[in-house]
This record gives sequence, C-alpha cells and structure tokens, in this order.
Amino acid sequence: SRTVARDARGVTSVGGLDVVTLAEEFGTPAYVLDEDDFRARCRAWREAFGDGADVFYAGKAFLCRAVVRWLTEEGLNLDVCSGGELATALAGGMPAERVALHGNNKSIAEIERAVEAGVGRIVLDSFQEIARVAHVAERLGRRQRVQIRVTVGVEAHTHEFIATAHEDQKFGLALADGQAAEAVRRVLGLESLELVGIHSHIGSQIFDTAGFEVAARRVVQLLTQVRDEHGVELPEVDLGGGLGIAYTPDDDPREPREIAKALHDIVAHECEAAGLAVPRLSVEPGRAIAGPTTFTLYEVGTVKELPGLRTYVSVDGGMSDNIRTALYDAEYSVALVSRASEAAPMLSRVVGKHCESGDIVVRDAFLPADLAPGDLLAVPATGAYCRSMASNYNHALRPPVVAVSGGKARVIVRRETEEDLLGLDVG
Ligand code: LLP
Repeated sequence: SRTVARDARGVTSVGGLDVVTLAEEFGTPAYVLDEDDFRARCRAWREAFGDGADVFYAGKAFLCRAVVRWLTEEGLNLDVCSGGELATALAGGMPAERVALHGNNKSIAEIERAVEAGVGRIVLDSFQEIARVAHVAERLGRRQRVQIRVTVGVEAHTHEFIATAHEDQKFGLALADGQAAEAVRRVLGLESLELVGIHSHIGSQIFDTAGFEVAARRVVQLLTQVRDEHGVELPEVDLGGGLGIAYTPDDDPREPREIAKALHDIVAHECEAAGLAVPRLSVEPGRAIAGPTTFTLYEVGTVKELPGLRTYVSVDGGMSDNIRTALYDAEYSVALVSRASEAAPMLSRVVGKHCESGDIVVRDAFLPADLAPGDLLAVPATGAYCRSMASNYNHALRPPVVAVSGGKARVIVRRETEEDLLGLDVG
C-alpha cells in the first residue's frame, strides 16, 4: 500500500490510522484495505491504456459492493465469472453493459441472468456453450455480444495451477488445432450472437511481457484468418489479466504503462502488417489492482521456539484467510507492526490456528526474538485471492475487510459470526 508509515514508537499506520487502534476497533484477523491506493491503481490502469481501450477489473481477485462502486466511479469495467459475482456487480451499481461474463461451465441460470441484465459481453469457452448462449439469447429475443476465448499455446512462467494458455488445461478453444477457427465459424452462423472479438488470458502472477506479446501476435493471426475466410473484421481483442505484483522484495513487477505500451505496439504493428484496422484492446487486471492495497492484520497467540530449527509464531487466522501459501507455495513477507523492537532477528515461520501442519501463512521470515503474545503482525499484499478464497475450515469465521480512506476506517465486508455459520446448518 502506498500510504503506510511507521511512527517513533514503531507503530505502523495506514492512511493516517494506526494498526493498534484498528485492531482494537475491528478485531483481528482483519484485512485492511487502502481505498485511496485501490482507486489510484484503477486510475493508473485507465490512464495507461487510454480512451481507446477498456480495463476490466477481474472480480475474482476481490469483490464486494464498495469495490464495484469504486470501479464504476473510476471508469473501469468488470469481469465476473459466476452468478454470485454478477449479482454483486449489479447490486453495486455497475452498468450491465460494462460487465463481461467468464467461466468454463456457466450454468443456464447464469447465462439467462447475464443476457437478461444486458451484459456487454459473454466470453464463450466451448462449443456446447456457444449453442447454449445462442439458445438462451434467442429465447429471450436478444442479440448477445460475445467473444471467443482462445488458448494461444504459450507457457506462462508461473505456478501450474494458474497458467492457462498451454493446451492441456480446461479453458478456451485452441488456436493450434483449428478449434478456435471452427468456433468463429459457428458463432458467425448464429443470428442471436454478435461476435465482437477474441479473448486470451495466459495466466497469473507473470512478470515478463513476452508471453502477452506472443499471445497478441497469435490472436491477430486469427483475426487475419477470420477476415480472409469470412470477410469480417472483428473489432475487439482482450488480452486478459495476469500482471504480477511484488509479494517479497525479490519480485520486480511491470507497471501498467509498460504492459499497455507493449500490447498497443504489438497489436498495432501486427495489424498494420496484415492490413487490418486496429481493434479496440481490453485487459483484465485483478491482482495488480487489488493485491498491493491490503494487508492482513493478525495478533500473535503463541510463540514456540524449536531449538536449532526455527520459531513457530501462531497467529489468530491462517489458511482459512490466506490459502495461497499452502496451495501455490506462495511467498509473503511479514512485519511486527505494533511496536519497535531492538531484539535480534530469529528465523520464524508464521502459522495459523488450523488443525494441520500445512497451515502456513509465511514460510520463512525473520522476526524479533522478543516477539510475544498480543503483538500485531501485518502480512502485506493480501488484497487479491485471500478474502475471495477464504474458507470456513474448522468453522473459522471469515475476517472483515476494513477500508481506510481520508483518515477514516469503515467495514466494507463484516466479520462472519457464529450465527452466520449456524444459519446455514438447518439439519
Ligand atoms: N481474466 C481471466 C479470464 C482470468 O481467468 C483471470 C484470473 C484474470 C483475468 C485475472 O488475473 P490476475 O490479473 O488477477 O492475475 N487464485 C490464484 C489466481 C487465479 C487467477 C485466475 N484467473 C492465485 O491466488 O494466485
């Protein structure tokens, strides 16, 4: 976050609010989100891409009504991938024409809701889905704008579970074996669908623009093929999300304007070579907007020193509020934020309170040797894929999201209660 500071007592503050007060007021664990930073990142993406392009925030990173309002105000569009995210987008007041619906297995009910609401685009992911969406649109008497998601065959250098452009995975239709071209042919033959473009998403937490450039080049090749075979120039290209953020000081992320320039240049260049009009570009950053805006605030409960090994520092959350360490071997940093300490650094592992040893928040960290129960720790860069992937494992109550702006803090997603949990338990 851009507005984090530390005072003479060693107490960290965000947007002018100190973490000790925040913990007293809102409890721990809590996700503390810097709204001004979130909005600044939205604007940086809008400005980098300019009026000739659209920025769709990927709601899966973190979504709630307040976020939808910020996006709407800052001129972003919204990518949703489920009925629940669509409902949140509409409840937050995002105009439906600025919403794109994704997913590799959208239900009929989700498709109906999207078509009825008038979403700006549905991104088609399979042959069956082409028929399904066409059928729903026809029945509702609509002509639905759609894109086709293609897999361009690049290996993004990221964790296997979040790489999506190689051929052997569930998303999209492959360019290489002609399925993407066949999908275009089918969609063009359907009255109730208006094919507006091609979509590619190569993966997530990527630092290098090369994969995006290869994707752009291959998508433009398909546009050329479509023009040659069908005499149609598709007006839109979406190159997905995936820009990485810094979780640790070793990570070196690209700025939005670097990625914008690389994508604009390559698409313009390839289109010129092929004699195509330059299509309208769009991108779908999720992590790069939400990730750095938030830290998770935990309270230390127990400190267990294992002589010759390391110190285990248990906090009052864990894999239920951040599954990324266990699931992707993700790296995070952590800091003592409630006081200064002159004590020597000790090799530590920050773990949660769940009933398994894989419940690790930060695998390796140096924390002061005088760490004690009641100290507050902050884990930065938890704004994306932490609250949105949180679970109730061990009947944990999912933490609140507290938004800080203009020297004030307010809850935008409240902490779960035992009543919430028991309310689902109707046996
Ligand atoms: N567009 C599409 C079609 C996507 O599938 C995704 C992410 C995005 C955009 C946004 O990607 P981003 O800019 O946030 O990297 N749970 C994983 C990440 C899964 C990403 C899935 N799709 C994690 O915690 O790392």
